Amino acid sequence: MAQLWGGRFAGETDKQAWRFNASIGFDQRLLREDIEGSIAHAKMLQKQGILTDEEASDIVRGLTAIYADVYAGALPIEDRFEDVHSFVEYHLIERVGDAGKKLHTGRSRNDQVALDMRLYTRRRVVETDKLLRELRTTLLTLMEEHIHTVMPGFTHLQKAQPVTLAHHLGAYFEMFTRDSGRLRDLCARLNVCPLGAGALAGTTYPLDRDYTATLLGFDGPTRNSMDSVSDRDYIVEFDAALSLIMMHLSRFCEEVILWNSNEYGFVEIDDAYSTGSSIMPQKKNPDIAELVRGKTGRVYGDLMQILTTLKGIPLAYNKDMQEDKEGCFDAADTVADCLLLFNAMIKTMKFRKERMEQSAALGFTNATDAADYLVGKGVPFRDAHGIIGRLVRYCIDKNCAIDDLAIDEFRQFSDAFDEDIYEAVSLKTCVEKRLTTGAPGTEAMRKEIEESKRVLSEDWTKVYEEEEEHHE
Ligand code: ARG
Repeated sequence: MAQLWGGRFAGETDKQAWRFNASIGFDQRLLREDIEGSIAHAKMLQKQGILTDEEASDIVRGLTAIYADVYAGALPIEDRFEDVHSFVEYHLIERVGDAGKKLHTGRSRNDQVALDMRLYTRRRVVETDKLLRELRTTLLTLMEEHIHTVMPGFTHLQKAQPVTLAHHLGAYFEMFTRDSGRLRDLCARLNVCPLGAGALAGTTYPLDRDYTATLLGFDGPTRNSMDSVSDRDYIVEFDAALSLIMMHLSRFCEEVILWNSNEYGFVEIDDAYSTGSSIMPQKKNPDIAELVRGKTGRVYGDLMQILTTLKGIPLAYNKDMQEDKEGCFDAADTVADCLLLFNAMIKTMKFRKERMEQSAALGFTNATDAADYLVGKGVPFRDAHGIIGRLVRYCIDKNCAIDDLAIDEFRQFSDAFDEDIYEAVSLKTCVEKRLTTGAPGTEAMRKEIEESKRVLSEDWTKVYEEEEEHHE
């Protein structure tokens, strides 16, 4: 056991209590952030004359070497350490001696871990947005390709009106664009530096908190030291944003699963992203889509966990806060995996245009347009609605589509019908005439695609990445 707080204790920590208390098993994922934060802290102490130039450069050299050695596999992270902070400090002292013992001047593990989690979350927020961007790019490519691919649009899972595949996919583009906006908002809010808050009440050393904040790419220091060490709002916000991404992915997966079924046959998932059954030789299952749908529950769980963990904690730091990590890691990892695989799956998925068009043609999706046609001939809409309803019933009995009827049959229902009814209810007309902003008609859709391209070209993560590179 190697801990940072032996002095006060006469007795040993119970073995089970030690294991229960330790966080090294999971917080080792914060190694990079811990070292980045410590380097910035050392540089600031040097600037303030609290460390000599030599001490600071020994510390920076030592920390850099520890990081390199761990990543090269030369320095294992052993569980005799309580947490990643103890691990780093122990090895730093081993390597650079007394200078290493001075690194923790004016710092507490409370502001240290608060900093590490913020840096870590910021990095994962940016990474998540990159994956979202790849998926949005795929969607946009598919939208351009399928601007004329007619399919039924559904309400209540009943065929409603004809739309295009581009339009349907565009709905998801909007959802994922909102998700990106949420990541952007929360990233701006989290981008303040808690380092220098100390255990809870700041410190008597003349620290320059603005300087550390700048070194680490933050917009500035946090304003209240007690809040700094106990704020985990940004994890809640990140988990909430991730939950919404999962909700959107899950709805999309549900559709892919339906579309991939024999009954719909709208798409065929590539072999690379399907699996078979051990007993039923004919099966090709949409497991990836099902798993993404299933993992949504897990990310919601992570959100509920952090909210519940935080709800009763008095100011300032309490050990409960150590429970902020695993859920955050899990949610970020899960979403990263899901975005990656979902994107690969739809990129390789075959869209069966003819099946989609046929399904739209056979589902009375042009019934609204038939009613609108009668309105154009002077029939009040409510009467037109009734007439087309009876006409649809007639078609169902005859097992045919509206446009299969002969003109005499149309006229049995209303003498307002003319030869131009065929043109008016053709699927092509039904889609093309929907030209209001946001509708599936080709011209409206082209505008939507242009606007989507413009939105996609705005990359808000650039500013954070430059910061990352800056202190790498
Ligand atoms: N492992 C701890 C955590 O993750 C680090 C902070 C410990 N601070 C303390 N006062 N015990 O929250």
